[in-house]
Parts: sequence; C-alpha cells; structure tokens
Amino acid sequence: MDRIIIYGGEKLQGEVFISGAKNAALPIMLSSLLTEGWNTFHNVPDLMDIKTTQKLLRSLGVEIEGVSPMRINARGLNNCEASYELVKTMRASILVLGPLVARMGMARVSLPGGCAIGARPVNLHIKALEDLGAKVSLKDGYVEAKAKRLKGKTIYFDIPTVTGTENIMMAAALAKGTTQLKNTAKEPEIVNLAEVLTAMGAKIQGAGTDTIVIEGVDRLNPVEADVIPDRIEAGTYMIAAGMTGGNILIKGANPYHLESLITKLRDTGMEISITSEGIRVIGNKTINSVDIKTLPYPGFPTDLQAQMMAFMTIGRGLSVITETVFENRFMHAGELMRMGADIRIQGNSAVVRGVPTLKGAQVMATDLRASASLILAGLAAEGKTELSRVYHIDRGYQEIEKKLSALGADIKRAPAK
Ligand code: UD1
Repeated sequence: MDRIIIYGGEKLQGEVFISGAKNAALPIMLSSLLTEGWNTFHNVPDLMDIKTTQKLLRSLGVEIEGVSPMRINARGLNNCEASYELVKTMRASILVLGPLVARMGMARVSLPGGCAIGARPVNLHIKALEDLGAKVSLKDGYVEAKAKRLKGKTIYFDIPTVTGTENIMMAAALAKGTTQLKNTAKEPEIVNLAEVLTAMGAKIQGAGTDTIVIEGVDRLNPVEADVIPDRIEAGTYMIAAGMTGGNILIKGANPYHLESLITKLRDTGMEISITSEGIRVIGNKTINSVDIKTLPYPGFPTDLQAQMMAFMTIGRGLSVITETVFENRFMHAGELMRMGADIRIQGNSAVVRGVPTLKGAQVMATDLRASASLILAGLAAEGKTELSRVYHIDRGYQEIEKKLSALGADIKRAPAK
C-alpha cells in the first residue's frame, strides 16, 4: 500500500482548484437509477468512492461512460442486490436502497461499512422506508425492502441524517402521493441532489430547510447536471494555509457553503477575503486557539473536525473541540500526539493545548478525514512525516499530493516498503 512522505515547513502559496463534491456526486450518480436513458453529470471528482459507486451501478446492469463528464444509463437495470463486497468499503452505498425500491419494487443491500467512526446505523433510513409502505427485513447482513409502489406520508427523522434524507427524497420522488420529511438535514449536497431530481421532473420543495415536501410523480427523465464544489476539500486547503503561514487562492469553491469555517478561521487570526476569483486565505504568524463544536449544517462540519484539531495543536492557548455528530471520531488525536501534540480526550471533547512546533513522525490514517488532518500536521511539522494507509485519503481527495506540491509543499507518494 502506498505511503505519503512529507518534509514539513514550506509556506503554501499559489492557487488550488477545488474538485466536485464527493458527497454530492455519490447520491447524484445513484439518482440516475430513477431514470431510463443517458444522464450526463459534470464536475464529478475522480476518487476511489466514485469508482466504487460506478462498480456498484455496473453490478446492477447500469451503463456508465467516463468520469467528468460522466454518462450513466440505467435502462438496463436488472439486478436489485448491492453485494457485501461492493458495499463494505463505502457506507454511502446504502443510497441505492431508496432508488431501487422506488424503481424496481425491491432491493437487497448489504449493511454498509465505510469509515470506522463509531456506530453508524441506518435505522432511520429503514424506518422512513417502512413509513412509505415498504416491507423491510434484515437477513444475513442484508437489508431487504419490498414495495409494489411506495406511498407518500409524513415522516419525522429523530436525527437530521444526510444520506437518510437523500435516500428517502429519491424514494419519495416516485411514490404515490405527497411525502413530508421533517427534521431533515440541510447540507448543500442535499440541495444539489434536489436540484438534479427536480430537473428530472420530480416535485420537491424545501430542500436546504428542515422540512422537505415531495409530490410523487410516475416517471423521471434523464438530465444533464453539475456537481457542486467540495466544501470539505476547500476547507482542508484553507486550514493548510493557516497551518503553514501561507497565502492561497482557493478557486471554484462556494464561500456560502463555508461560512462556519470562515468565521472560525478569522477568529484564529487568518485573513480571508472573498473575491470574484475565489477565496483568498492568508495565514497569520500567531495562531489564536478557538473552540469548535461540530453540528449538522449550517453548524461546523464534522468532516473538518480532524483538520481543525491538527490546526489547534499549534495554536496559542487552549482549544476545546466537541464532536456532537459522531461518537468515536477522535482517532486522529493519538496520531497527532505522536507528532508532539498535547491533546486530552474527555468524552466527546478534546482539549488541545497548543505547542510551538510539531515533529514529523510515522503515522497511520484511520479514516478519510483523519488522513487529511495528519497530512496537514505533516506540512506544518519539523522534519519528515510518513503517512501509511493512504487508501483512506484516495477515497475523498482528488490528487492531494499533486495539488499540495503545486502550492510548494514537499510531499510525494511512495510505494509501500
Ligand atoms: C454524511 C456524509 C459524511 C458526514 C456526515 C455528517 C455522505 C456520503 N457522507 O454521512 O461525510 O460526516 O453526513 O455530516 O454524504 N444516524 C442514525 N441512524 C441513521 C442514520 C444516521 O442514528 O439511520 C446518526 C449517525 O450515527 C450520526 C448522525 O445520525 O450520529 C448523522 O449521520 P448522517 O447524517 O446520517 O451521516 P451520513 O449520511 O452517513
């Protein structure tokens, strides 16, 4: 397995172009299951999770060409089963459940694996599908759902779940009658999916708020659509500028999707300006420590918590980072400590006392965003950092070492020893 080797200490400077959002591209690719004919999607990122989704779709009989643009045709859909082999590496595979039941009347989907960040159940997806009239059972590690035609209903989500909202929005688009989803997640990726479904002919109101109303239609048509820019990738490069005292122009990102991060980064002393060219981020010599609490959108994203923790390890003072979205999402803390960070975990909070410098070390990635935080730490650390289990980063960051090299980082990919 590849490693990433970094010699820290370079100030990052220049421009970086942000790729399409992985978490928007995945549901959008799967929404093509609701149509017959060629869909064309632009700005799809070239990532492992996208390749896994292509494999999953092909295993269902779907035709796919290219990556960006990506063309998908689900006319030949002839299989309702997403196997363990395909689903185990990517939790988002559960997103086939809603579209398959809606279009085929049944689905058999292996319970997902994906990032090892605490218990990540899919009970809310299942409950909502049952509310729409599906008969759901769990057998041999598979979720089996059946419904001749789903029926619209008012559904209340106990927790705002991102993929749960997306799954049920897709299912309800072809249901009979009106579905009201309450306490839905409000992430920009949900709005992007709703726009694509609407272009397909779905009748959806309220995406981006906590109540979404979907009036079911009999059929949806193929479309041509764009994937939004990846706010988590953009945020990671913004933090990289802060950690290295750099000056980066982030191109192609949407600043409105990054408001919680921009506010926090300004509080650390960074200079951030929004221009017609992109988001200009300039690091400050002194990094003020700030407290962070992760929350569903528009709160601070859990997918930037690890990167922000890496930043706070070299802050001036004390930072309390509280994770409220997932349990057990502090696995990066132990690795950061191996680089000299001073972190104490207390339940779902991490108390980070800034140190003057981090020291390069051999570290191991445990999940996607943890990998990003260790790369950031390596960029700011003295000496050599060697990151193993790089496959995690390839799931979600397109060509990260090339983009960072172009900004002046001393970073390269090397084969396993
Ligand atoms: C999505 C993102 C992921 C991000 C997360 C939170 C994708 C492909 N992934 O994941 O990158 O970290 O949102 O912003 O878009 N929950 C339940 N039961 C369920 C579903 C969720 O209890 O059936 C809980 C989860 O354990 C978690 C919370 O709800 O505590 C939110 O999770 P959710 O929004 O569902 O995350 P994902 O959609 O899996």
